[in-house]
Amino acid sequence: MTQSLTILRPDDWHLHLRDGAMLAGIAPESARHFARAIIMPNLVPPVVTGAQAQAYRERICAVTGPAFTPLMTLYLTETTDPDDVVAAHQSGIISAVKLYPAGATTNSASGVRDFNKVRAVLEAMAEAGIPLLCHGEVTDPEIDIFDREAVFIDRVLDPIRRATPKLRVVMEHITTANAVAYVQDATDSLAATITTHHLVINRNHLLVGGIRPHYYCLPVAKRETHRRALVDAATSGDRRFFLGTDSAPHADDAKESACGCAGCFTAPNTLSILAHVFENAGKLDQLEGFVSQNGPDFYRMPQNDRTITLEKSATPVSYPAKIGTGAGPVTVFDPGFPLYWRVVD
Ligand code: DOR
Ligand code: ZN
Repeated sequence: MTQSLTILRPDDWHLHLRDGAMLAGIAPESARHFARAIIMPNLVPPVVTGAQAQAYRERICAVTGPAFTPLMTLYLTETTDPDDVVAAHQSGIISAVKLYPAGATTNSASGVRDFNKVRAVLEAMAEAGIPLLCHGEVTDPEIDIFDREAVFIDRVLDPIRRATPKLRVVMEHITTANAVAYVQDATDSLAATITTHHLVINRNHLLVGGIRPHYYCLPVAKRETHRRALVDAATSGDRRFFLGTDSAPHADDAKESACGCAGCFTAPNTLSILAHVFENAGKLDQLEGFVSQNGPDFYRMPQNDRTITLEKSATPVSYPAKIGTGAGPVTVFDPGFPLYWRVVD
C-alpha cells in the first residue's frame, strides 16, 4: 500500500531568491511547495531600506503569484537607521533584519565590522520585537573556517544576547553541535534554522574523492558528529529548531570554477529529502513540527491552514538534475541517495 503523509503546508525560514532572470527561473521551485519564505536581502546592492524591501517583494510576487508570501528582511549595515527598521516592521513590509559579519559570505561586503555601531538598531529591534537573523560565522582570518561558527557564538552572539536580553534572535543555518547546545541551553528568545543539505552532507562529501562544488556552502559542512547533532536537533520535537533551507542558487559556471561560489540549491527536492531523513531517524511524526509549525510559532505568525501531501513510492522518484534559467542552468542538490517521497498535492 502506498504510504502517504499530509501535513500543514511548510514555510522556508531562510531562502535566497536573487533577482532578475535568476529570480524568474528559480522562485517557482519554492512557491510550488512552500506557503511563505523569509527572503534574504543579500542582493547586489543589498536590500537596506524599507522602500527597497517593498520593491523587491513586488518583483518576487510578480513571478510567484498570490499563493506564495515572501517575508522580507533588511540587510543590517553600520549605518542602518533604527527608525527606518521599526517603521518598515510596523507597516508590515519586513519581518526581520539580517546580520552578516562583513566578508562572511556571498555579497556580505556591506555587513557589520564593528558591532558597537549597530547597538542602537539592536536596542530598537528588541523593543519592537523584530527578530535578528544571524549569519553566525566570524571573519577573523586567524580563525580556521571549520571553527568560525563556534567562535562566533563566544565572541559575537553571546555578548549581543547578554547586552540585549530582550532581542529575539535566530541563529541561521547552524552546522555544529556547539550551536545546537547553545540554543538548547538558552531561553526561548533564541531559535535556530537548519538547512536540508546540512542534515545530509558532512565535509567528507565535499572533499573526498574530488572536490564537489555543488556541496560547497557557507557555513561549510562540518564533520559527521556535527551532522548527527543537527539531525537529532531537527527531529527532536524541540520547537526552537525549524527549517530554513538556505537554498542559494548560483549558475553552474559560477560554482564549477577555480573560485566557486558558496550555496546549495535545494528548493526543488527539499521536502523529498527531509521526509527521507526524518523517516530514517524514525521520526516522520516530527516532520510537520520542523517544517510547518515551529517556524511560525517563533515568528509569532499563524500556522498555514492549507496542507501538503507526500507519498512514498516503491521505486525512486525523479527530479530535474538542473533548472534552466535566463541566467544559466542551476544544478539541483543531489543528496547522494535515491529519494522515494514526493509531493503529490
Ligand atoms: O552558502 C551560502 N550561500 N551561504 C550564505 O550564507 C549565502 C549564500 C548565497 O547567497 O549564495
Ligand atoms: Zn543564506
